[in-house]
Amino acid sequence: MNIHTYEKFWLAAAMVLIVGFIATITYGSVGIGIAMVDDEQDTVNPDNLDEHPGFADPGVEQVGENEYEVHIIAVQYAYFPGDFEVPADSEVTFHVTSEDVIHSFSVVGTNANTMVIPGEVASLTVEMPDVDEPTEYGILCNEYCGPGHHDMEALMTVVP
Ligand code: CUA
Repeated sequence: MNIHTYEKFWLAAAMVLIVGFIATITYGSVGIGIAMVDDEQDTVNPDNLDEHPGFADPGVEQVGENEYEVHIIAVQYAYFPGDFEVPADSEVTFHVTSEDVIHSFSVVGTNANTMVIPGEVASLTVEMPDVDEPTEYGILCNEYCGPGHHDMEALMTVVP
């Protein structure tokens, strides 16, 4: 009986360590300052993006005192816009869709990450860090989307 109790204890201890390691890997980078607070899905016609109020002219738009929306189109092998600025310490909602195949929209080193599927709009809200100087964040595609997949990237700059 005693042996079983010890085994259970060490099994439990090992589980706590494993879960702790996974949590560190998953959430450890949130300290960089960009934290995803919400995400949802909507639909869109991928053949008619130029008639969509947001995707016809993708980019950054101020929608509230400290709130911004960014419409982004993913295609093989780029994002439009591929280079944009957002204000520090603001709340930014990205609306991302694809014109061709499945991509992803992943802000490097943060938990802001979503699949981007043609016909669907992936929306994710993140809080931008309160930086003192312009800070660049890379955006990458994590879904294999063709031979140019590894070159598919964008740059976001958080400006004070
Ligand atoms: Cu787009 Cu990989």
